[in-house]
Amino acid sequence: KRYDFGLVGLGVMGRNFILNVADKGFSAFGHDLDGDKVASLLEEGGNTDKINASTDGKTFVESLSCPRKLMLLVPAGKAVDAVIEGLLPYLDQGDIIIDGGNSFYRDTDRRESYLKSKGIHFFGAGVSGGAKGARRGPSIMPGGSKEAYQEVKPIFEAVAANFNGEACVAYLGPKSAGNYVKMVHNGIEYGLMQLTSEIYDILKKAGNYSNPELQQLFDSWNRGRLQSFLVEITADILKKKDDKTEGYLVDMILDKAKQKGTGKWTSQNAMDLGIPIPTIDVAVSMRELSALKEERLQAHSMYPKKEFEKMDKEALGKWAEEALYFGFILTYAQGFHQLTEASKEYGYELNMPTVAKIWRAGCIIRAGLLADIAKAFDKNKSTTHLVLNEDFAAKIKPTLPAVRHLVAFAVNNGIPLPGLSNALTYFDGFTTNRLPLNLIQAQRDYFGSHTYERTDMNGIFHTDWEI
Ligand code: 6PG
Repeated sequence: KRYDFGLVGLGVMGRNFILNVADKGFSAFGHDLDGDKVASLLEEGGNTDKINASTDGKTFVESLSCPRKLMLLVPAGKAVDAVIEGLLPYLDQGDIIIDGGNSFYRDTDRRESYLKSKGIHFFGAGVSGGAKGARRGPSIMPGGSKEAYQEVKPIFEAVAANFNGEACVAYLGPKSAGNYVKMVHNGIEYGLMQLTSEIYDILKKAGNYSNPELQQLFDSWNRGRLQSFLVEITADILKKKDDKTEGYLVDMILDKAKQKGTGKWTSQNAMDLGIPIPTIDVAVSMRELSALKEERLQAHSMYPKKEFEKMDKEALGKWAEEALYFGFILTYAQGFHQLTEASKEYGYELNMPTVAKIWRAGCIIRAGLLADIAKAFDKNKSTTHLVLNEDFAAKIKPTLPAVRHLVAFAVNNGIPLPGLSNALTYFDGFTTNRLPLNLIQAQRDYFGSHTYERTDMNGIFHTDWEI
């Protein structure tokens, strides 16, 4: 018997993905060097004729129907190269390898051209939605050879999340377009998470919100324009009691956030492209700052904070909703701006409405706002930045008084709101007709003869400033 689809890496994601493929009527064969993982998949799904698995690479490859379609869900980095090398001797020309992990886009480009020389198609397909998404329907972001995509399209469309009858998967573009889009997805994820944590903080510190009150507030937001997976799970998290103490679990969790690198890559690449994404940058920095726990404790005792002023609870709740909405919009705006520029620079041929559409369900950054973003890009094809889109201007403008009020309050009270204040500063910079960077140009020319341009005539100028 030959199987429709192969999957390498039977960790939680891989196992769930393969069970999802089988649920949709395709037969699938799993492979992992770890015998326990193979056994556990066979125990869960092996009783149907749809699922099989083996620790042996040759058996695995030979069990797949041609052209073989095999997906890797293994940790990004060396493991991907090792798996490819291990399976390569058994593969034939025309076979398709899909990398479903969070691989660095440049690694994907390297692997694609390496495998092309051997007649094998390789494409990176970001998969988002965590373990549950993999089982019930993730958002899938494939890029690479369009021809190869046609082979896996029916399987991906069946397993992907569904938004109003549309599958949350689409061919995005050539080369590493898929991994690149997934990387920026994760950068946006970092930004939205940072903003959510800041709003949670100010509600507690300035409004004395209790966990049940916060839970109710986030839950009500999730039924409005802030509807999103991250707001939804925040409400869930806030009601979880701790089984070791009397309190809530969230209060017992150490405030040091870890990261696996995709947010940092997004920021690093934005710098390379020359595209400002400060809300995402600061979200990465705050994870780094959070890790300096010992230093923070020492600094806290050296620079004691005065007691926080209090705000009217209800008014604060309303402002917080507006501020979070503004912050979410600006984070998506920065992420889409980066995608727009990267698409030109790397020749990805990305279509922004398509990206927004496949993020509407299944992935971690899914949100009601994405349907609005897809519509806005669709309606006005020349939109290069969401802040410049009329529909979004109408959403942003009314939130500004609340954002300014909250940021000013937080600054006066020593409550850090770096994501929100950066989003606001970015917005204020973006909407300023004349920035003081003329002075920077003058300084550069003063000390280094770096030249400057003038406002009133064309050309490149230099001045001997000391005379
Ligand atoms: C997803 C997520 C996922 C990512 C985690 C953890 O889309 O399902 O983005 O791919 O690995 O969110 O990322 P960090 O460990 O860097 O926070």
